[in-house]
Amino acid sequence: MQTEDSQGGSPSRRAPTYPEEFVSTHVPPVDLAARLEKIWPVSRRTMVQTGAALATVTLAGCATQAAGPTPPPVTAVPSPVELPPSTVPVTLHVNGVRHRIDVDTRTTVLDALRENLGLKGSKKGCDHGQCGACTVLIDGRRTNACLSLAVMHDGDQITTIEGLGTAEKLHPMQASFLKHDGFQCGYCTPGQICSSVGMLAEVKMGMPSHVTQDITAVGPLTEEEIRERMSGNLCRCSAYPNIVAAIVEVAGTSGGRA
Ligand code: FES
Ligand code: FES
Repeated sequence: MQTEDSQGGSPSRRAPTYPEEFVSTHVPPVDLAARLEKIWPVSRRTMVQTGAALATVTLAGCATQAAGPTPPPVTAVPSPVELPPSTVPVTLHVNGVRHRIDVDTRTTVLDALRENLGLKGSKKGCDHGQCGACTVLIDGRRTNACLSLAVMHDGDQITTIEGLGTAEKLHPMQASFLKHDGFQCGYCTPGQICSSVGMLAEVKMGMPSHVTQDITAVGPLTEEEIRERMSGNLCRCSAYPNIVAAIVEVAGTSGGRA
């Protein structure tokens, strides 16, 4: 049972009392200023002066940045340069017909054929020399028309798929592609046919390929040779076996088969 004390509070709420020997009444005075000076011997005056100096330097830097870099001195505007004409006249002999055209100096043979002369047989696949769809024969040599500028071929003889044969009289290679079903969508076919005609001419001239064993005596034209020599002409439909068969027949070889 709890009892009330003289102040009316319960005994458990009263401040505790400790024995005399536990309570020290003497707290030695601490000189905080002296201690601080020992740790950091900088006077308050010095600190205030240093702070003010730093603030002045920072503000001066900001003011310089806000003003921006010093503008360059104004010089006289140069008079406009006279540029050379960007189109030049070019003569191209395409499929036996002479064409005199004005072309932009940056025009490729492929664009000159397709856009200037309206010969759309040569196809633009990659326009980067990687697919062979644009292959034409220039002076008898197969060429990626997308990689060659028209101005480089002034006076040259160019043969496209339209010039190899006619609908009534197909070129033997065109007929062989038909016979062996050497195409599906047909997009790569003009390039494949021009390339294979040029490739057989190279073999006739004795030009070796990367897989030719004896470069002093080119031949026979094996399937391996044909595939290597035609490796610059891609076919997304993968008609390769039939393309090789068509070329083998025109080449008049066994293609390496017994
Ligand atoms: S379009 Fe010329 S190589 Fe592809
Ligand atoms: S036939 Fe379609 S890309 Fe060759």
